Parts: sequence; structure tokens; C-alpha cells
Amino acid sequence: MKNGAGPYLEKLEEPHFGNAPSITINGKSISQDVLNSLLEYLSLASHRDLSSINTILEVGAGSGRTAHCFIQQLPNVKYIIVDIPPALYLSQTYLSKVFADRNVFRFRPFQQFSDVKEEYDRADLVFLTPDQMRMIPDHSIDLFLAIDCLHEMKRESVKFFIDQAQRLSSLFYFKCWVDTVVPFDNIHYPFHEYPIPPSWLKIFEGPCFIPSEFSHAFYLLTQEAG
Ligand SMILES: C[S@@+](CC[C@H](N)C(=O)[O-])C[C@H]1O[C@@H](n2cnc3c(N)ncnc32)[C@H](O)[C@@H]1O
Repeated sequence: MKNGAGPYLEKLEEPHFGNAPSITINGKSISQDVLNSLLEYLSLASHRDLSSINTILEVGAGSGRTAHCFIQQLPNVKYIIVDIPPALYLSQTYLSKVFADRNVFRFRPFQQFSDVKEEYDRADLVFLTPDQMRMIPDHSIDLFLAIDCLHEMKRESVKFFIDQAQRLSSLFYFKCWVDTVVPFDNIHYPFHEYPIPPSWLKIFEGPCFIPSEFSHAFYLLTQEAG
């Protein structure tokens, strides 16, 4: 773990719910998910003051491990998860249980944003599908995360999420295989070929410590069209 990570690690522990493989250090349960998520948090925090982040949207959150870490570090943050079934149900179940005191907007079908706006505005944790994300108001997200997920998608879906990040957010972080090959869909994604708009300002890009076959990059989004 990086030098200086101690105070951040203090705030973290693997929750019992979920039964993740873990070891006990100084009486605390620590797992690979906890440490991996903290590395992601520290990558961002070492380049940007995250204390002013109020709203995070994470696409493809899986179990919700990154959300768990970021909410522990930024307890007042509103966290929106955008995923597809069955993972959306997984993160909703996990995070609702682990953060039982939070106001949760559970996934449900709705036709227009005004039908759910009041409840959405009140919620600390929100669970949406990608089509519902289109209804979130412009420029209402501070940080858009896409961790270990864009490389699972077809090119049109990757483009969709990058366009949505442009519309919604002022910061974008993604982490993917350095080189992805999906033979069934005839996909080959070298990391530098993700369609990042030329107007986005790169804050950093580089190899990940864990997993070592991944790269990650962090961008400041300008409001001009990509
Ligand atoms: C390998 S998991 C990564 C989970 C998590 N980000 C992590 O690092 O632990 C990939 C995630 O991408 C999501 N995903 C795949 N295709 C997607 C799509 N078209 N739209 C939204 N999420 C998608 C999956 O449902 C899953 O949650």
C-alpha cells in the first residue's frame, strides 16, 4: 500500500455482509477488494482534491466494492450506480445493507425524470439502468467512474457512456485491460483507442499497480462538444 495510505485505510474495513475472503490485521477485516478500491481512490486523491466532490456516478459497479470505499472516504457524497441486471441487483442489495442508514433510491421502471425527481434528489444511493441515466439532468455529476467495465462492452455502448460522461460530469476516471480482445464480438481495444474526446484534459494516464495488466486514466472534462 502507498505511503500515507494509513489514514484512509483507518476508515475502511471489509463488511461481513457479502462474505468476501479477507484477513484480519489489527482486529480489522481487510480484503483484496478493500485494498484495490483504496488504490483507485488514492490514484484520484493524489491528483485532485476530492473533498469538494458531492455526486459520483459509477457505471458497471459489480458488487459495489468501489462505491463502498469512496462512500467511506467521502461520507456525504451522493452515489449513483448505473448497471445492468443481475449486477445492478447485487450492488443494490450489498450497499443498501452495508449503508443501512442511507436513503436509497431502488431500481424501478419510470417513464420520465419528473416522476421520480423528488425521491432522486433526496437519495444518498441511487440505482439506475443505462437508459434511465439519460434522464439525469445535465452537469449534475462531479465524478464519473468506469472501472473494469468498458472493455466488456461493444463500441456503441462505450461511446454511449463517454457521451453521457461529457453531458453529465466534470471529471472522468476509467480503468481497463491494457489490451482487450473479444473474439466473439470481433473487438480489439488497445487502451489508447477508447474514444476519449480530444477536448478532455488528461490529468494522468498510466499502468495500474493492481491488476498489473490494467491501465487507468483520469480526465477533466471541458464543456465544449467532444
Ligand atoms: C468485471 S465487472 C467489474 C465490476 C466493478 N467495477 C469492479 O471493478 O469490481 C463488470 C461490470 O460491468 C457491467 N457491465 C457490462 N456491460 C455493461 C453495459 N452495457 N452497461 C452497464 N454496465 C455493464 C457488469 O454488469 C459489471 O457490473
